[in-house]
Amino acid sequence: MRFPLVVPSVILPVLWALALVQSLDFQFPNFTDSDINQLIIRAPNSRIAYDAIQVTPDSNGAPMDNKAGRVLYKWPFRLWSNGGKNASFNTTFVLNIKSQTDPGGEGLAFILTEDTDVPDGSEGQWIGIVNPTLNGSIEARTVAVEFDTRKSFPDDLDDNHIGLDVNSVYSRRSVSLNGRGIYLSKGEDVRVDVRYDGKNLTVFVGEDKKNPVISEHLNLSDYLPENVYVGFSGSTSDKTQLNCVRSWQFSGSEIKDSKLRWVWILVAVGSVLILLISIGIALFLYRKRGCQVDRLEDAYPNIDEAILGSSTAPRKYKFKELSKATGNFNPKNKLGKGGFGTVYKGILGNKEVAVKRVSKKSTQGKQEFMAEVTTIGNLHHRNLVKLIGWCHERREYLLVYEYLPNGSLDKYVFCDEKPGTQEATLSWEKRLSVISGAAQALDYLHNGCMKRVLHRDIKASNIMLDLDFNAKLGDFGLARTIIRNEQTHHTTKELAGTPGYMAPESILTGRATTETDVYAFGVLVLEVACGRKPGGQTERDDYISNIVHGLWELYRRGTILEGADPRLDGIFKNEEMECVLILGLACCHPNPNDRPSMKTVLQVLTGEAPPPDVPAERPVFMWPPKPPSFKEWGNSIIGGELSPFSEISGR
Ligand SMILES: *[C@@H]1O[C@H](CO)[C@@H](O)[C@H](O)[C@H]1NC(C)=O
Ligand SMILES: *[C@@H]1O[C@H](CO)[C@@H](O)[C@H](O)[C@H]1NC(C)=O
Ligand SMILES: *[C@@H]1O[C@H](CO)[C@@H](O)[C@H](O)[C@H]1NC(C)=O
Ligand SMILES: *[C@@H]1O[C@H](CO)[C@@H](O)[C@H](O)[C@H]1NC(C)=O
Ligand SMILES: *[C@@H]1O[C@H](CO)[C@@H](O)[C@H](O)[C@H]1NC(C)=O
Ligand SMILES: *[C@@H]1O[C@H](CO)[C@@H](O)[C@H](O)[C@H]1NC(C)=O
Repeated sequence: MRFPLVVPSVILPVLWALALVQSLDFQFPNFTDSDINQLIIRAPNSRIAYDAIQVTPDSNGAPMDNKAGRVLYKWPFRLWSNGGKNASFNTTFVLNIKSQTDPGGEGLAFILTEDTDVPDGSEGQWIGIVNPTLNGSIEARTVAVEFDTRKSFPDDLDDNHIGLDVNSVYSRRSVSLNGRGIYLSKGEDVRVDVRYDGKNLTVFVGEDKKNPVISEHLNLSDYLPENVYVGFSGSTSDKTQLNCVRSWQFSGSEIKDSKLRWVWILVAVGSVLILLISIGIALFLYRKRGCQVDRLEDAYPNIDEAILGSSTAPRKYKFKELSKATGNFNPKNKLGKGGFGTVYKGILGNKEVAVKRVSKKSTQGKQEFMAEVTTIGNLHHRNLVKLIGWCHERREYLLVYEYLPNGSLDKYVFCDEKPGTQEATLSWEKRLSVISGAAQALDYLHNGCMKRVLHRDIKASNIMLDLDFNAKLGDFGLARTIIRNEQTHHTTKELAGTPGYMAPESILTGRATTETDVYAFGVLVLEVACGRKPGGQTERDDYISNIVHGLWELYRRGTILEGADPRLDGIFKNEEMECVLILGLACCHPNPNDRPSMKTVLQVLTGEAPPPDVPAERPVFMWPPKPPSFKEWGNSIIGGELSPFSEISGR
């Protein structure tokens, strides 16, 4: 066992959860090289030099014109909470702006933003705040106090003003400093105080603390996500200046949201439990297979991977490279076709990969594509198909995944596919390991990673098998939405998923939840054990065509083992088969509140817990559902606060 690794992975989530609820307070009386660790500095344009933040290049050799830069505090600030609570903050900084041309250009800004990156094309009049595409769009999620030193477009007040910018550089309020005897770009220190009390944003400049330059009612939660980065942006154009911040102090209040704090602590404790359970599974598999000691370490590569997570982010490929790798998307290299595009086999370097070319008809937008690449790219689990890279060029969206030579599970469990082409059937032992692998992957998505991810399309054809027939959950590149915060409910509701795997309530509500994923997982378990397709979708379907109804009927009669795949020729342990079938039924309970969580599923699969109680008669589907008949502490509380709902987008 690698205890040195196990211990930090137990402690880190706890520390992380505690850190999350801390307030933000910091002070930089000046800036030195050692402060780099506490800042996000968007080089090459921004850096620390001469005891100050140089938001755009200092004159030291580098060209200064047409540059945009950003420097932000490394840890985000919690601005508001779902309970309608607003944080407040006070920040004081000293700016020093010196024109290098006459006049200088363009300006500096204090920003609150979701995105730490400098938007492409935000130099010149855009002051590093937004670019022409983001200007005026709610997607910008940036609020700024600009210190504009150049009149760069007709609506701009003058070359010495302060503006309040919301998702735009066109200020909703701008005030000239000329009347106050303050000149921004003269190379003098200008002290600025920005205060936000949860309702009003107030800006003072200079020593005058009585008469604010700007005081504006502003509901920041209308424009910004819950957690924002704070810092500075700036730009130059063909006119240049030194944009320096010499000192900076920030103090933000903590949102006392005791309920949420408990949720985080519970999440942390939950992840510790999951870890212990996973270790249990590792031991279980080890004992079961009777392999060498090495296996145990192999069974747990995701500790290392989780820690190295960010350094293994997917890389960007050129369209040309991917086109070449797949022989110009030669139909001969086609591996399959899904709802979102076509998958080709390719060779990159000397590695085999699977390249998915997202169909142009798909409604997937650039923002969603990017969000998915970054979030999915940072998920690492041995039972998830790994995302290696991506490409966006010429209106083409491409994703590069690891290539799995054995293809998808459905080829191995359904005998009635295409006669003659069927593969050898999988042994019961392999099937058990596939089920357990899929369960671990889904538990990781639901409970193991920082942002809960819903797969939304669990089914046999989305489970890929590696050379040793280990299950890897795939096709989650496009099928689900990440829960960023509960505000992102804008998309239209369309039903996603595959008939037969969809929980009855999802057809009514059109929403995906952890429970609908568990339902689909249950169907998958039954398919694998029974070796047959799930059949139709409707409630009325009889037990011959619908796998869930059929198996429930056998269960009622006390003959559930008759459901086992006949091609297994009875070569399995009866208790194991019965346990798996009952677990599958429990996951397919018509009442979402009565389905087990993935945590419980894992416990059942490792033998730590008995299969859940399943009523002999399949209960009638009712909506809205009854409250849970037993409370699972983790789920019920999280369910209330971090509601796992995600909107469903086109398929
Ligand atoms: C910068 O601030 C530190 C305190 O954090 C102080 O010790 C140091 O003297 C300051 N340097 C200058 C040049 O003001
Ligand atoms: C900000 O300053 C005001 C006035 O000095 C003070 O009342 C308030 O408590 C401060 N807020 C924070 C978060 O420090
Ligand atoms: C930028 O957005 C503002 C709205 O915030 C709009 O009035 C202005 O016309 C936009 N400018 C450009 C160049 O798109
Ligand atoms: C949060 O801000 C909104 C709008 O600015 C305000 O109406 C509301 O009262 C604030 N909430 C608290 C708890 O101060
Ligand atoms: C917020 O600003 C408005 C005017 O801009 C002012 O009337 C109001 O008193 C301010 N509220 C607070 C809490 O400072
Ligand atoms: C402020 O925004 C929050 C979230 O968008 C909203 O619940 C609240 O009603 C808003 N308050 C005002 C006064 O607009």
